[in-house]
Amino acid sequence: MSCDLILALDVPTRDSAAPLLRQLRGSLSWVKIGLQMFTAYGPDYVKAVADEGFNIFLDLKLHDIPNTVAKAVESLAPLPIGMLTLHTSGGREMMQRAIEAQRATKPDLLLLGVTVLTSMDATGLGELGVAPDPASQVGRLGKLAADSGMSGLVCSPLEVTQLRSVLPANVQLVTPGIRPAGESGGDDQKRVMTPADAARAGSSYIVVGRPILKAKDPAAAARAIIAELNAAQS
Ligand code: C5P
Repeated sequence: MSCDLILALDVPTRDSAAPLLRQLRGSLSWVKIGLQMFTAYGPDYVKAVADEGFNIFLDLKLHDIPNTVAKAVESLAPLPIGMLTLHTSGGREMMQRAIEAQRATKPDLLLLGVTVLTSMDATGLGELGVAPDPASQVGRLGKLAADSGMSGLVCSPLEVTQLRSVLPANVQLVTPGIRPAGESGGDDQKRVMTPADAARAGSSYIVVGRPILKAKDPAAAARAIIAELNAAQS
């Protein structure tokens, strides 16, 4: 099973992203555009990054009534995107309607489900009236997503082994929470794995932001992670 790098483009402006994208053209395949850049620059920015030769993971984490999410998927279908996220906690019907819209309008698009946000802990889940055990909630939502026909899940690399044991092998697992070995951390990702360990655990893609964006030489940091992934899989 192969594992590829996705760069999380969590930067404030398109001008700050431009030099990095230029340097990474040719070595990096996937870029994740999230709410920050999409709300600032909209669909045109998605097209601009795709025109530079990157595959786009649009991380909008859609969550609304089934009809509204399905219509949003239809509206996004003309964009050059390869992955799109929605919240599995929107329920079976929401996911199924989103998948119907995706199949009708953009058959190659991977719809990925977010289970429990990594910012939530047992206390936060308890306050929502959800059983305060993040791992079982991740398993429950992961199975619901796979049953509903979702292409994959966004999850912690530490959840991959558990999820792989209950999900069909074709479900794509996309994992943020990656820190290269030796990285001191110092940010809000607490449950982390190295790129090589995440690949060996069974991640289909890893999502990396700050370890690349905050490196002295971001392009070199991205290339080092790609090399680490390739070595782990050879
Ligand atoms: O900077 P860092 O490598 O932590 O970036 C990880 C990216 O993955 C960020 O864009 C973050 O929003 C995203 N993400 C996450 N945990 C999730 C889902 C998405 O860290 N459960």
